[in-house]
Amino acid sequence: MKVFVIGGGGREHALVWKIAQSERVTKIYCAPGNPGIAALAECVDIGAGDVDALVAFAKEKAVDLAVVGPEDPLSKGIVDKLFTAGVTAFGPTGAAAELEASKSFAKALMAKYNIPTAAYAEFTDAPSAIDYVKQKGAPIVIKADGLAAGKGVTVAQTLEEAVAAIESMMTEKVFGDAGSRVVVEECLFGQEASILAFSDGKHVLSMAPSQDHKPAFDGDAGPNTGGMGAYSPAPIVNDAMLDEIHRTVLVPCVEGMAKEGRPYKGILYAGLMITESGPKVIEFNCRFGDPETQVVLPRMKSDLVPFMLACCDESLDGMQIDWEPGACVSVVMASGGYPGSYPKGVVIDGIAEAERDTGVNVFHAGTKMDGERLVTNGGRVLNVTAVDRDVPSAIAKAYEGVKRIHFEGAHYRTDIGRKALTAT
Ligand code: AMP
Ligand code: GLY
Repeated sequence: MKVFVIGGGGREHALVWKIAQSERVTKIYCAPGNPGIAALAECVDIGAGDVDALVAFAKEKAVDLAVVGPEDPLSKGIVDKLFTAGVTAFGPTGAAAELEASKSFAKALMAKYNIPTAAYAEFTDAPSAIDYVKQKGAPIVIKADGLAAGKGVTVAQTLEEAVAAIESMMTEKVFGDAGSRVVVEECLFGQEASILAFSDGKHVLSMAPSQDHKPAFDGDAGPNTGGMGAYSPAPIVNDAMLDEIHRTVLVPCVEGMAKEGRPYKGILYAGLMITESGPKVIEFNCRFGDPETQVVLPRMKSDLVPFMLACCDESLDGMQIDWEPGACVSVVMASGGYPGSYPKGVVIDGIAEAERDTGVNVFHAGTKMDGERLVTNGGRVLNVTAVDRDVPSAIAKAYEGVKRIHFEGAHYRTDIGRKALTAT
């Protein structure tokens, strides 16, 4: 089989790494890919947002399966276009990807199908939104309706912060059109967990639970980022909790989407808060999580490709995934300054030394080649990932890897996975 992976970050490196282990796969293309991916796949210089060029390439190479990593091409309907071009594609249609692309759509779906989530109201003008937050008080959560690269959410601890967030989204338009509508939500308390689940439009099959670390600094301090690290399993989601999430969140979502005439195929990502009154949805995403994928796939013993094909041809029912019993931890090494402005082109050393330990993989998130040298090319640069028999050993092994890697200004959290040690 020829597989075409779209995207070029750590998530796509992990996907390509896992797909390359499939006995069915003879060739992998990746657009645009990155230097880490280039060791496993033929990288093609087409941007992940250039839908028409990607579709033309997939058709020209007669790929057997296209796997779409990021949300942007999904929300632009790349899966619909690939289907029209006769290419089997793993991921939701544009209509189904609304689940991530519009928070307002997702909230309305959850209300209609009784999926537990935070109480909310939505607004298209700043004064009404401000009146509402004044009435509700802080803490309160302000979300831009549209896609904002994971940065469109403010958990406001004070009314001033809430008002400032509304003004920057709606009046100053820092997220462009994505902020012309805002969702204002009740603040939920508890531990977060991410569930990635396969869906074939009718049936849903969860992968192992994981947990991301969004804030930039140790102890969950500082601004939110795209994710500073992750671990799997997430002990907060035991078997009983996973079953509850399946019944109250995943199944109603997939059934609801089918009833709405937007059958959902691909990865359904539920970002959850495990509250005292049970799991509540913080957000749905229409794709593999980043960096959750980097810790879930290394624990997956089964071949990934048959599950993707089963989602496409609606044959997921009855399939089961085998998991490695241990744990996986991934530490993001970011550029100094991230999530604010940061330099690019800084030389990176030590990846081969880090990978010398069995069970350590360094997924490239934001790198490029500068002649013969590997240099930084993004905010999140590397995902130093380790599998071991339990969370403490995987944490130790991942940080051992981190110590061997050097680039000037490198910034990483030193407490990735620690929450798993205190969770009950
Ligand atoms: P999102 O981009 O929707 O994943 O939100 C980013 C982060 O904001 C989440 O990972 C949570 O930590 C936090 N968040 C979002 N919604 C809520 C909420 N209703 N209550 C508490 N925290 C939230
Ligand atoms: N880890 C959060 C996301 O993928 O959106």
